[in-house]
Amino acid sequence: MADTKVRIPSMPVESKARNKDTMTDGAPKLSRQELVRLLNEDLSREYQAIIAYVVYSQVLKGAAYMKIATELERHAKEELEHALTVARQIDYLGGQPTVTPKPVKSSEDAEEILHFDLANENETVRNYQERVRQCESLGEYGMAERIREILAQEQEHQIDLATALGNDVAEVTSQEERA
Ligand SMILES: [Fe+2]
Ligand SMILES: [Fe+2]
Repeated sequence: MADTKVRIPSMPVESKARNKDTMTDGAPKLSRQELVRLLNEDLSREYQAIIAYVVYSQVLKGAAYMKIATELERHAKEELEHALTVARQIDYLGGQPTVTPKPVKSSEDAEEILHFDLANENETVRNYQERVRQCESLGEYGMAERIREILAQEQEHQIDLATALGNDVAEVTSQEERA
């Protein structure tokens, strides 16, 4: 009987996950489980951003940094919204949102603080760009849309920081880092 034929088992989830870098026409191949893991990385970065902006917005002193300190306070609130959105997507996928932030660097030097923030935003933008493609490759178009909205705000954060540092985003980020 045809039905008794041995079926080739599909690849176990873990080895699929390991193949996440396999790209075909630009779409990363990954499992939903792997997407949950990556979204939890994003969530850890959002927690990191909340902590950094809460602290940095209060410790930046001096007339030259008044405007950016106010902007960092706004960033903190936006990062909290992002964290909530990302946690909601993880829950929707059946995952457990992480409770751990990525480590936050601290400095007493204003310019160094802004450079830390910018480096984190660059990393965040790079990751969300990838996440949009990954969500779409899994047919999660609504999720991709939510992440696009976050991405647009992260790009504004990049611009705010680069401007405060007296640079264009183009001058302080490599081409890859830019959106
Ligand atoms: Fe964010
Ligand atoms: Fe941000």
